[in-house]
Amino acid sequence: PRRILADVDTGIDDACALLHLAGAEQLGLAEIAAVTVTGGNASARDCALNTAAVLDLAGRPDVEVAVGAEAPLRRPAVTTPETHGEHGLGHARLARRPERISARPALEVWLEELHTHPGQTTILCTAPLTNLALALRAEPDLPELAAGVVIMGGAYYHPGNTTPTAEWNTWVDPDAAKEVFAAFEGRPEHQLPLVCALETTERIEYTPALLDALLHDAGARPVRWDVAAPRVTGPAADTGKAVTDALADALRFYFEFHHDYDQGYIAHLHDLVAAQAATGQARLSTQTTVVDVEADSELLRGTTVHDDRDIWGRRPNARRVTGNDPRGVFAAFAQAVAAVAGR
Ligand code: BDR
Ligand code: CA
Repeated sequence: PRRILADVDTGIDDACALLHLAGAEQLGLAEIAAVTVTGGNASARDCALNTAAVLDLAGRPDVEVAVGAEAPLRRPAVTTPETHGEHGLGHARLARRPERISARPALEVWLEELHTHPGQTTILCTAPLTNLALALRAEPDLPELAAGVVIMGGAYYHPGNTTPTAEWNTWVDPDAAKEVFAAFEGRPEHQLPLVCALETTERIEYTPALLDALLHDAGARPVRWDVAAPRVTGPAADTGKAVTDALADALRFYFEFHHDYDQGYIAHLHDLVAAQAATGQARLSTQTTVVDVEADSELLRGTTVHDDRDIWGRRPNARRVTGNDPRGVFAAFAQAVAAVAGR
């Protein structure tokens, strides 16, 4: 099994990624080493509480959840309640247990993991890259100490999902993203981060029908979908008991968000793609390239640019995912959630 250190800003699709990892563990494909958190979809504190709650529900109350950077390297913290709900998990209301959060800072967890398991741990980043940038500053040998690095971020063919050209994670901390890609420049190909950007992750159009099938396979009760029904605004009455209830309540909010932005009653499960890349389950095509990030201009803040034609004359610093298999992603997710639900 692949040993995985996840860095998240949970977040509805981060929650799906965590559930997937827990299921992949049950299936013998992964081992969760620890999970660290930064702010983004919600505050760092909310993201940490959400992460712990999801891991608890998924049967992993023992996984260490450690908080890292509370804000980007050089900018104030921002959150996106319209995308993920007030606390980051949509309509799901899960038990919040502050005592569950580790007293250790994320950086300590990363360094210990990399030094005690050299060459064994894959780092999965589904949040702004602040924690990865700080870890690279503290341990410049991180690329060779890790078994691999997988990143969800960027929008190489625009439009972005936050500005017309920028994707959320990269927009939140463009300085960190720029620093990260610079740190990998010229590394051997197997050390280069695998980058899942919007042109890959937006192919994952998750639907109520797919969720219904997943719930059925996991032995859970069905959801009654009604796009026109009034939105739940307060705490849902009967959530937080089963992992499948929480998943359905979180995803319903994500469907509503995408619907409000004219993308249909669907959800793009960005971070799930990266999680499956980390476990080695995703069928991907990739291209080695040079990536850079705009961190100075306000207009193009967080815009990712890649040079596949050696125009810059720079050495590669990333492996960009150029193709994936959405049906394979859905099937693997359903299998993982069924495993978590004990099916
Ligand atoms: C990314 O931004 C966040 O809102 C999601 O969790 C994902 O990591 C997609 O742009
Ligand atoms: Ca995320």
